[in-house]
Amino acid sequence: MKHIPLAISHLTGKEEEYVKSAFDSGWVAPLGPHVDALEETLAKFLGVKCASATSSGTAAIHLALIQAGVTPSDTVISSDMTFAATCNPVKYIGAKLVFVDSNEETFNMDVKSLELALQKHPEARFVLVAHLYGQSCDMDPIMELCKKYHCTLIEDAAEALGSTYKGKMCGTFGKYSAISFNGNKIITTSGGGMVLSNDEEGIKHIRFLSTQARDPAPWYQHSELGYNYRMSNICAAIGRAQFTDIENRIAKKRAIYRRYAEGLKGTDAYMMPLASYGESNCWLSALLIKKGVNKSPLDLMTYLKEHDIESRPIWKPMHMQPYYKDSDFVSISPEHPMDEDIFARGLCLPSDIMMNVEEQDYVIKVIKDFLSK
Ligand SMILES: Cc1ncc(COP(=O)(O)O)c(C=O)c1O
Repeated sequence: MKHIPLAISHLTGKEEEYVKSAFDSGWVAPLGPHVDALEETLAKFLGVKCASATSSGTAAIHLALIQAGVTPSDTVISSDMTFAATCNPVKYIGAKLVFVDSNEETFNMDVKSLELALQKHPEARFVLVAHLYGQSCDMDPIMELCKKYHCTLIEDAAEALGSTYKGKMCGTFGKYSAISFNGNKIITTSGGGMVLSNDEEGIKHIRFLSTQARDPAPWYQHSELGYNYRMSNICAAIGRAQFTDIENRIAKKRAIYRRYAEGLKGTDAYMMPLASYGESNCWLSALLIKKGVNKSPLDLMTYLKEHDIESRPIWKPMHMQPYYKDSDFVSISPEHPMDEDIFARGLCLPSDIMMNVEEQDYVIKVIKDFLSK
């Protein structure tokens, strides 16, 4: 059996044609017709008015936070179980972070813990949610709490392109939302991101900030702090080619999750639960070892590696990160935080769209061998 990766980027076969058209037209700069078209395509796909393409998902989150009004004197309440790129941009600004525990049903931000955090930090004016591995957070109660506590919602939908909550796309709930086109995501631009919103003026300003905030003057004049965060036309061309295959890719990711769930039935492990309120794009399929079973996901990771199968630990919660040790962490069960438990029992399994059924059956067999030893 050949090496089975966690998830890598795959070409659709149309990329060269799109990139060639960028070269042929002479647009190789961080702007151009492919950038405009990719923004339009994604805004339409999600069902929002407008978008601004950026050089990364992290840059998109940074600009979304700035546009939302986060300043160094602010407090931002954030998902805890996520990739560091969700909350690092809060630190770029110099604002304070408060992390919120997850719940057992979705592994996403726990609504009761969020309310506790909002009560404990009445100064907070911003809530930043990340949808874990493509699964939507429970947006209705989160939005209600944002309203009740006068907070602006920012959505990190980096992993959740094409996922839905009650029929509506992830990335359409926040005042500003960010997605990522990093190499391992559902579609890639070889590195890139996008801010999406219904606020047309806000997106215009984000575009201005992403291109060095140059005032409309005959000389180089800046009244605001600018960034070099714009996506290049070449990258956007790749993204447009990738987008032609998006439905197929999501269908494959979902089929991978279903096969794991079926294959691991009756074992000492189970898959990250999928909430009935939405449809995850199943970007990464994650397994949990049942409570009380004396097996470690790190040992499983080593065992899989010995069989040339790549897996990865679940995101280590932010409140457990040395860098964020001084940030507050709020949980309704502080003695036994849910996401510490998920982290201690979870592992991300190969979720590559080119993994065939035979290869996945092999992965499942190796997992079963490990669990029964
Ligand atoms: C949840 C989350 N947020 C943010 C990012 C950052 O995106 P990028 O790598 O495009 O900067 C990623 C992925 O890389 C992510 O998984």
